[in-house]
Amino acid sequence: MRVSVFGLGYVGCVSVACLAREKHQVIGLDVIDEKVNAIANGVATVVEPGVDELLVEAKKIGRLSATKDAVAAVHSSDMSLICVGTPSGPDGSLIMNYVKETAQAIGRALKTKVGHHIVVLRSTVPPGTMENLIVPTILAESDRTLDEVGILIVPEFLREGTAVADYYDPPLAVVGSHDGQPDGNQGALAALLAVDPERLTWIPFRQAELLKSTCNVFHALKVAFANEIGSLCSSQQIDGRSLMRLLCQDRKLNISPAYLRPGMPFGGSCLPKDLSGVIALGMHAALDLPLLKAIAQSNAAHKVRAMDAARRVNGFRRIGMDGLAFKSGTDDLRESPMVEIAEHLIGKGYDLRILDPAVETARLTGANKTYIEKHVPHLADRLVGSEKELLDHAEAIILTRDDCSLLDLAAQLERPPLVVDLTGADRTSAFEQELALA
Ligand SMILES: NC(=O)c1ccc[n+]([C@@H]2O[C@H](COP(=O)([O-])OP(=O)(O)OC[C@H]3O[C@@H](n4cnc5c(N)ncnc54)[C@H](O)[C@@H]3O)[C@@H](O)[C@H]2O)c1
Repeated sequence: MRVSVFGLGYVGCVSVACLAREKHQVIGLDVIDEKVNAIANGVATVVEPGVDELLVEAKKIGRLSATKDAVAAVHSSDMSLICVGTPSGPDGSLIMNYVKETAQAIGRALKTKVGHHIVVLRSTVPPGTMENLIVPTILAESDRTLDEVGILIVPEFLREGTAVADYYDPPLAVVGSHDGQPDGNQGALAALLAVDPERLTWIPFRQAELLKSTCNVFHALKVAFANEIGSLCSSQQIDGRSLMRLLCQDRKLNISPAYLRPGMPFGGSCLPKDLSGVIALGMHAALDLPLLKAIAQSNAAHKVRAMDAARRVNGFRRIGMDGLAFKSGTDDLRESPMVEIAEHLIGKGYDLRILDPAVETARLTGANKTYIEKHVPHLADRLVGSEKELLDHAEAIILTRDDCSLLDLAAQLERPPLVVDLTGADRTSAFEQELALA
């Protein structure tokens, strides 16, 4: 494949070197003369282990060239990578000027190019950039349609310092397309990433755009978390590295997809209590632990969002809620966000019925019983025994559980209830489809 690489900084320079090693013919382009000259001479523009050797070799066997001429670069390649910088602006937003200029230059060059071409954005950009900037700019400047030019985003996951190794073993091989589906360019994309075409995961533009930033935010969160726990450990004469090593050994709950699914706020008797306990430890040791303190604030903000969403039942009187305990399958009602929502709705005068098969009022004891009696008095009168009973009652239903089959039943009703889904699971659309079929 012949590949032109726009932007010869960290990402561009490493890409040029690795693509040439994979036997692609590579042409680099930058607006800075020194970088163009360096790559043209087989010299790296950045300090990165392994890159110098790859570039020397690529130059020697004639797989490498560089230019400032976008038309020449596009005309002599089958695919163009956009690897230009997207630095932060004054308010933190990423600056799109360089990406826009590059899309314009590639689009203009495509106007006079014969044959198919693929443009792949590798720079990190905010959601909406492909739809609102890259695709329209390239199509307008080139006078082509999306059938005539492949325009995709492939987030770059390389890390400085291990960039060459990361290039050959990316943690994810994700391709963003306008509809989230393969667009016929699978072979070229697989060759670009040096992976099997089956390994490519196709997702919509916006998801691909936010994925890369989300990964970096998560890494930043992990560093800050480990450092706050490390500081807390030091204050308690505990070896923080050893403790965190053990934490990471748990692949079931800690380093795993568990708890990493957008949905309801956390609650129950353990998470809120132990979080307060750890923060109190830090306070007594005069430690500033802003991240740990912010967890409770974040959860409270999410409860407010859930409450606001639940208010969509306004205008109805008979409400059904699926789920009451903090987790399905248990009857622990303490600190359950669903109890707070129920309390709020009852306070507002709604006629609320609740389905939670694990909660039996006669079996509630101790702190659990005291808690629910305080927040939802006469709970027994509000609990129903089946989905049918809940649907018979409800003009609107509030979903709080992922594993609920209410929707299948609701879709069969002559007058289905309004559904307010607080779980974060994308199934309302499926519900709407079922209704359309019903
Ligand atoms: N550095 C990393 O480890 C890394 C990893 C993944 C993703 N990214 C993302 O990739 C993008 C590039 O990052 P980087 O670290 O390589 O940036 P960089 O600043 O090192 O390099 C950007 C290059 O683009 C060039 N450029 C600017 N405008 C241009 C134009 N109109 N035409 C051609 N070249 C132009 C600049 O001269 C510069 O050489 C950013 O969006 C970044 O967030 C970076």
